[in-house]
Amino acid sequence: TTHERADTFHDNDQKPVGYGRMLRKEDPRFLRGRGRYVDDVQLPGMLHLAILRSPVAHARIVSIDTSVAEASPGVRAVVTGAALAQQGLAWMPTLSNDVQAVLATDKVRFQGQEVAFVVADDRYLARDALELIDVEYDVLDPVIDARRALEPGAPLIRDDLDGKTNNHCFDWETGDEAATEEVFARADVVVSQDLVYPRVHPAPMETCGAVADYDAVDGKLRLWSTTQAPHAHRTLYAIVAGLPEHKIQVISPDIGGGFGNKVPIYPGYVCAIVASIVTGKPVKWMEDRSENLISTGFARDYIMRGEIAATRDGRILGIRTNVLADHGAFNGTAAPVRYPAGFFGVFTGSYDIEAAYCKMTAVYTNKAPGGVAYACSFRITEAVYLVERIVDCLADELGMDPAELRLKNFIRPEQFPYTTKTGWVYDSGNYEPTMRLAMEMAGYDELRREQEEKRARGELMGIGIAFFTEAVGAGPRKNMDILGLGMADGCELRVHPTGKAVVRLSVQSQGQGHETTFAQIVAEEIGIPPADIEVLHGDTDNTPFGLGTYGSRSTPVSGAAAALVARKVRDKARIIASGMLEVSVADLEWEKGAFHVKGDPGTSVTIQDIALRAHGAGDLPEGIEGGLEAQICYNPSNLTYPHGAYICVVDIDPGTAQVSVRRFIAVDDCGTRINPMIIEGQVHGGLTDGVGMALMEMIAFDEDGNCLGASLMDYLIPTSLEVPDWETGFTVTPSPHHPIGAKGVGESATVGSPPAIVNAVVDALKPFGVRHADMPLTPSRVWDAMRGQARPP
Ligand code: CDP
Repeated sequence: TTHERADTFHDNDQKPVGYGRMLRKEDPRFLRGRGRYVDDVQLPGMLHLAILRSPVAHARIVSIDTSVAEASPGVRAVVTGAALAQQGLAWMPTLSNDVQAVLATDKVRFQGQEVAFVVADDRYLARDALELIDVEYDVLDPVIDARRALEPGAPLIRDDLDGKTNNHCFDWETGDEAATEEVFARADVVVSQDLVYPRVHPAPMETCGAVADYDAVDGKLRLWSTTQAPHAHRTLYAIVAGLPEHKIQVISPDIGGGFGNKVPIYPGYVCAIVASIVTGKPVKWMEDRSENLISTGFARDYIMRGEIAATRDGRILGIRTNVLADHGAFNGTAAPVRYPAGFFGVFTGSYDIEAAYCKMTAVYTNKAPGGVAYACSFRITEAVYLVERIVDCLADELGMDPAELRLKNFIRPEQFPYTTKTGWVYDSGNYEPTMRLAMEMAGYDELRREQEEKRARGELMGIGIAFFTEAVGAGPRKNMDILGLGMADGCELRVHPTGKAVVRLSVQSQGQGHETTFAQIVAEEIGIPPADIEVLHGDTDNTPFGLGTYGSRSTPVSGAAAALVARKVRDKARIIASGMLEVSVADLEWEKGAFHVKGDPGTSVTIQDIALRAHGAGDLPEGIEGGLEAQICYNPSNLTYPHGAYICVVDIDPGTAQVSVRRFIAVDDCGTRINPMIIEGQVHGGLTDGVGMALMEMIAFDEDGNCLGASLMDYLIPTSLEVPDWETGFTVTPSPHHPIGAKGVGESATVGSPPAIVNAVVDALKPFGVRHADMPLTPSRVWDAMRGQARPP
């Protein structure tokens, strides 16, 4: 069901070129099974690499005997951490200024850590040979619970770091502690709640992998890899391996989902590069599902305490939070350098409050490294969950309707641009119409009446609301960089003589439909039909530098770059047109695809005519070079701040405590909408993620550090059976600084849906006096909550 309302901006679904509900240009190859993923790359003489992983969470490596494996048939090389150490390659920097072992030398620090690799003639021989490597471990006590990581006497995990005496990773704070204390002291009501956002995994359909091909003759390394950030990865490989950057080509071909999981550089990529250099052959490494789940970037794992202060009549005064962040054995997240906790700073949500303060401590544990932003702009998911849960706790305390409480405290439209108490400048927003539309679509008052009747009959029905504001589109580069690389994006546009065009992006798609939407952006600006615009991405030799696709930054940053580069080409086309029509530039008018003489629409030249002229015979106006192309590097002046109102209706079986999501209404506002069909797809996917996190997913460990979610039999991800028919709607509040007014949308639904679902479940459980229960709300968790036994995971 789609309820469409575009009352603050035009909806341009019907335009012949440019924005609108256009079918995806990339789908013919996907639907025919002709996508080309990393594992489809086959090179002559290619060898295969398999990684030996630690079976234990924390142990000293006493010895590794590779002799039997080396003698095994088809084995070309067996490499250990000690061998890498001789080349200075046993450790690599992470994208968060930590270091991570490529292959363990001294100790293993999590179950699944990389210990050695085998290169063999095929994948099976390589895997078989892993079994023949004999490693002696001296098992150490592991630290599994983040709450115990800083206890005196806790085993020291990172003894590789000079002078390290405990498991402390970093401290971070934001907001004004004293001002927040002051508002809490004068508040009528203060509510606090402990919340856990459990460790979950992005679990992309395609696992991670690489094919490395080092050519010793010309010194060039070609690396096909599952990366969301090919340019940033290339620069880091150049720095670490000491190879010149122009001798490294990173190709990120079709990618089967990233969701943040494919942002970090994994040891496997480095091993494949080393293996190709050592053997002189192309080498492929593809991890299996278990390897992906146990060793690659997990998400969340925040233990939070939220506090909210308000007046008796429901005016929110302040929000305070204390967070314990579990980063696993190595800080393997990717976050802008100045934001070690990502954009968690937006935990004040969509509310106009007087003061806020957050204090965070991050620790190391003997678990897989990460803390990646799973379909989220650097920890915004955790922030939105925190604020939307404690606002509901406050509503409960005040006996106020949660929709009414939110409406009362929203930042008002005239307050934008709005600077939050933690220093974020929200670019634009108009929250009340979005909220009201969601309520109208849901039939909110009717739902509350139905709930009352059901409660009287002992039935468990819950209605949950979440309202979010996201911060997406990192930079600007002045305060956002990853390991010193500024967060800006390049874009190039070349119009060929016949009027067909190619646009080269620095961002890379993992299924979001960029080949379509970026063609639409350029089409809208320059009037060439999207079908005539080829979008190239994911190959560092053929695209301009940029920081990559994550945090819904493609549209806010590269989308802006695409619009501006097209305008630059249009400016040149205007000068050429003035020569062709023999009038001054000022006498020309642009109407999608053609310039005509003012007042004389019949006298015109199309963009295709101009393209031919730009490359053709005859003179061009004074000072104009031939060709019709431009390039740009766009540095955003701010992030964009999409928002949305989500309402979830659940029913709980009182006999089995099974939660079923009956309805889910999602109203999103991502500013100007490029392709409504693609946006709906993004929202549907994100909402499905949300059902997974709220009800099913958790990467759990036993006390020895064994990962209990190492397969999709144990780590449950949602299917179409667990989700309802989504009801989506939208409002449009353009971004004032983005050239086409667009904001990101890819991650909104993943961010906004978990609190809506949890709020609905807690609402259903109100008759039992439940105020909170932690995710995932599995039947056993809900059952415990119904019996007053809710415990944190
Ligand atoms: O960075 P990522 O592509 O994951 O996220 P995004 O910028 O939010 O875009 C996701 C998809 O939705 C892309 O194909 C965008 O072009 C499309 N989109 C849109 O059609 N209109 C918007 N206002 C925002 C995104």
